[in-house]
Parts: sequence; C-alpha cells; structure tokens
Amino acid sequence: MHHDPVLISEIETIFLARSLHHVVVDATLGLGGHASMFASHMSPGDMLIGIDRDSDNLAIARSKIPYSSCDLHLVHSSFSDIDTILDEKWIETIDFILYDLGVSSAHYDDGERGFSIRYDAPLDMRFDRTSGRTARDLVMTASEYDLRDLMFRFADEKKSVHIARAIVEARKTKSINTTFELLEIIRWSSYDKDSPKRVFQALRIAINSEFEHIEISIAKAIAKLAIGGQIAIISFHSIEDRIVKNLVMPYLTGTIDEYTGQTIVPARLTKYNKKLILPTELEIDHNPRSRSAKLRVLTRIN
Ligand SMILES: C[S@@+](CC[C@H](N)C(=O)[O-])C[C@H]1O[C@@H](n2cnc3c(N)ncnc32)[C@H](O)[C@@H]1O
Repeated sequence: MHHDPVLISEIETIFLARSLHHVVVDATLGLGGHASMFASHMSPGDMLIGIDRDSDNLAIARSKIPYSSCDLHLVHSSFSDIDTILDEKWIETIDFILYDLGVSSAHYDDGERGFSIRYDAPLDMRFDRTSGRTARDLVMTASEYDLRDLMFRFADEKKSVHIARAIVEARKTKSINTTFELLEIIRWSSYDKDSPKRVFQALRIAINSEFEHIEISIAKAIAKLAIGGQIAIISFHSIEDRIVKNLVMPYLTGTIDEYTGQTIVPARLTKYNKKLILPTELEIDHNPRSRSAKLRVLTRIN
C-alpha cells in the first residue's frame, strides 16, 4: 500500500534540529510513514511509541516500520489516553510528539470502511471498529436538529437544513445503510457538488468524537512535554485548524491579571515557526492530499 507521509522532510528537519530524542510519540501512527522516519534517527535506549485507534492501520504500520535499534511500542488506543499509556510505561516526560490528524489514505482507499464517497459501502466510518456506533446508527437515529447542527459545526455545510430534513424524511420509509444511499439523498437535497464531501467529513468527525479526543489529548501531551520538547500538529481543514489554534493559544500567551497586569500563569510554549508550515508546490503535485495540510510546531519553555 503506497502512502506519502505529509510534510515529512519539514518534520524531519525540525526533529533533527534537537539532538535529544529519548522518548518520541507518534500519536497518529497511521501507516507508519512518519514513525519510520523517527525510528531511523533513534538509538538503543530510546523509545518510540506509536498510537492508533485503528487496529488495521496499526498492523500495517507494524509491518512497514523498518528495523530500528530503538525500543518500539505500538499501542491500539486513542491518543486521548496518552497519560495512561505513558504512565503504564513509567514515562515521565516526552521529547517529541506528532499529531497528523484525521483520516489516513488507507481509510479512503478501503472501499469497505464507508469513509469515501467513491465506493458503495456500509455506512461505518469508525476508526476503531471494535466499539462505538456507526455512521448508519447516527444517520438513522439522530434528530433533525442534531444532524443539521453537526453538518454545520463540523463541515460548515450551508445546505445542512435541507440535507437534514431530507435524511429524516427518507428514513421514515427505508433504512439508510450505505454510502451510495446517503449520497443519493444528499445530491437530491443539495445541488452543491461539494456537499457530499462535507457531509461525510461531518459524520466522520461526529462518529469518532474527533475534536473531543484532540482537546483532551493535546492538554495532556503538553503537560508531559520535557522542557525543550516539541509538539507538532498537522491539521487538514479550517475547523480542525481553528480548534488546534485555540487550544494552544493559552499556553503561548500565559495568563495575565487584567487588573494588575501581572503574569499569573507564565507561557509554557513558544512557537518554533512563526508562520504555519505548508507543503511546497512540489509536494502538492506529488501528493494532492497534502494540499490543505498546516503544520504547527511548539516548544515547551516552562
Ligand atoms: C493522517 S493519518 C496518520 C498518517 C501517519 N502519520 C503516517 O505517516 O502514515 C491519521 C491516523 O490517526 C488515527 N487516529 C485518528 N484519531 C485518533 C485518535 N484519537 N487516537 C489515535 N489515533 C487516531 C487514524 O486512525 C489514522 O490512522
């Protein structure tokens, strides 16, 4: 399975700018692209932890990460459990952690997972197929209000009112079980050619509680970063990017008492790069999926 890790040379340069890589976490292991790069620069005694909610991806990554002399731990879990994962291994601080958010190319390319509008498949969309409700459960049971709300909040879908109403009408007479059945309803209720992609994005985010997991995990990861350690986050769409930006902002500014002007909580992080790091034209040509990627890297200073 071919897969191009996004912004890999930029991340490698940043990773190598610091020599200490005793504990490295790839919070979104995926197919192991970034993790393989990390492993190639790590030494005996170093520990690389790869986490993924998707056991299929975890198995692929396991077979792809080349031999490395470092200590490799692959964990089937959500990155929101990062504190427990580290505690179980008696790890107090981490030197580098990467979040490459969202879906992997394997999810889109697997015609049976229900993530892609290209394939007719059961409406599933769970990263972790061992637990939780499916996109079908959500589409068949959520209220019209909730469907509208999630399409609007998670994908800025302007036609959410029409699409939610159409879903609720359609399910009165038959079950909506597959991607193509849902697509037909979306296309019939919205003439916007981009609505299907946005609705699928919104359902996927809702089914996997993606933003809740990000919020929980990033706060925990920052608390575990060593002084001088770095957190790198790649986001892929504007809503995700806004969430990440708002999450890290208080750590960059600290807290100032509005009456006295004194610092109550000092800043904990500083930006490694003033501007967001974006893929080059060359990378976008080679790997169109990287087009919307935005990389933030922050260093713990306090
Ligand atoms: C964009 S892919 C990562 C690709 C990876 N960097 C590579 O080079 O192959 C995102 C991965 O994160 C996983 N994921 C999404 N949410 C997660 C979560 N809360 N905890 C752990 N893994 C998660 C997905 O299953 C997917 O495999």
